[in-house]
Amino acid sequence: MAKSLIVGSDHAGLGLKRELSAVAADLGYEVVDLGTDSSDSTDYPDYAHRVASAVARGDGLGLLVCGTGIGMSMAANRHPGVRAALCGDVFSASMSRQHNDANVLCVGARVVGPGLAAAILEAFLSHDFEGGRHERRVEKIEASS
Ligand code: RB5
Repeated sequence: MAKSLIVGSDHAGLGLKRELSAVAADLGYEVVDLGTDSSDSTDYPDYAHRVASAVARGDGLGLLVCGTGIGMSMAANRHPGVRAALCGDVFSASMSRQHNDANVLCVGARVVGPGLAAAILEAFLSHDFEGGRHERRVEKIEASS
């Protein structure tokens, strides 16, 4: 079964979301786009909540893009079981999977260029949770939600 990446953005993240969706598809992911599909001004929490709900259901990993990635990560992290990581570098993207078991990647389209964003997404998708001592720590995150 193909792995799924559930993606969402506001107007500020639309272009980068499309570029990153193509990167994910090239990596073999089935990309499910929950909007926006317009450059009209819109509200990022609407898309963060859609994607976070799908990830919490177990539909796949998530990708959220807005201007800074900040609002998306704040909204997505309100959902129990969702661990959204705002990443602006490749090392953090890898570690968010290996140590934090992040299941949503947030990227700021006004912060990182498309080349770096693609490398961040590739790092996020190509690393797995290491478990072990990190399991207990992630459980403690979930215990507070
Ligand atoms: C939209 O102007 C902007 O506020 C939004 O994309 C995001 O950066 C919020 O965190």
